[in-house]
Amino acid sequence: MDLGLKDRVCVVTGASGGIGLEVTRQLCDEGAKVLMVSRDPGQLAAMREVVRAEGGKVEVVVKDVTSDCAGQHIIAAANQAFGKVDVLVNNAGVAEWKPLDDASEEDFRFQFELSVIAPLNLMRAAIPEMAGRGWGRVVNVSSTAGKRPSAMMPDYSVGKAAMLSLSRQFAERYAAEGVMVNSVCPGPTASDLWMAEGGLLDQSKEAAGHASREEALKAAGAKRPIGRLATPEEIASAIVFLCSERASYVSGAAWGVDGGTVPVII
Ligand SMILES: NC(=O)c1ccc[n+]([C@@H]2O[C@H](COP(=O)([O-])OP(=O)(O)OC[C@H]3O[C@@H](n4cnc5c(N)ncnc54)[C@H](OP(=O)(O)O)[C@@H]3O)[C@@H](O)[C@H]2O)c1
Repeated sequence: MDLGLKDRVCVVTGASGGIGLEVTRQLCDEGAKVLMVSRDPGQLAAMREVVRAEGGKVEVVVKDVTSDCAGQHIIAAANQAFGKVDVLVNNAGVAEWKPLDDASEEDFRFQFELSVIAPLNLMRAAIPEMAGRGWGRVVNVSSTAGKRPSAMMPDYSVGKAAMLSLSRQFAERYAAEGVMVNSVCPGPTASDLWMAEGGLLDQSKEAAGHASREEALKAAGAKRPIGRLATPEEIASAIVFLCSERASYVSGAAWGVDGGTVPVII
């Protein structure tokens, strides 16, 4: 299937690892050009070289998406590098297990900045020009926790739920002008967020008192019909489809890519 992404210019936040890196690779495989965004300069430069070695046309911007004017700076950098922006993937995110009693006001503010204000500013910087050309795609990477609040990640859940509402606002505003705005809600995915030392796997192991990482991983997988975590590639495939020409009649959706985790049919 030709996804019609050749020479499309894409901005992917959180592109130096996990889901964002796989989105970048798959977009490049389709012939798109990608501006990769994340905070750690060394990691971002290393991943730029990995993707270039695979033949990908990529540039990078080191930026915290929650910093002042990040949205304008990132979109300006993409315009400077590639002349326009056709596709925006708001993927940057972090999560930590912390029950409601321990989650501070600051934790809630942080997640709101990351999941709502940063994507808001990026969409405001990117979408009007997409609409002016009559074609654009935005994918906001939320979570199953946005649909079904997680008791162990209350601040993250609230931020990701708000992201779904924000995404819907932009979808309704811009669909008639050719810009399709959608969300995906991944289930637990074996990226660094889960698998890195001290990540969600270790945090869940400690919270539930599992004897080993293997036992904690098995327990996390068993909580969903598919029986395992996703790979970053599996989540990226759904995101890249929503970035494509083929998703021309999908607007305002919040697709679960979660191995059946959230039992809803709407
Ligand atoms: N993994 C899961 O189980 C899961 C499930 C549902 C939803 N999600 C969502 O999927 C998205 C990607 O997660 P992942 O699993 O791929 O995580 P990951 O492997 O930890 O990668 C996160 C990426 O985001 C970047 N990042 C984090 N904060 C940033 C900021 N403020 N500004 C710019 N870049 C930032 C990181 O690089 P730097 O640290 O260098 O900035 C990295 O490139 C997140 O929004 C996450 O909430 C993940």
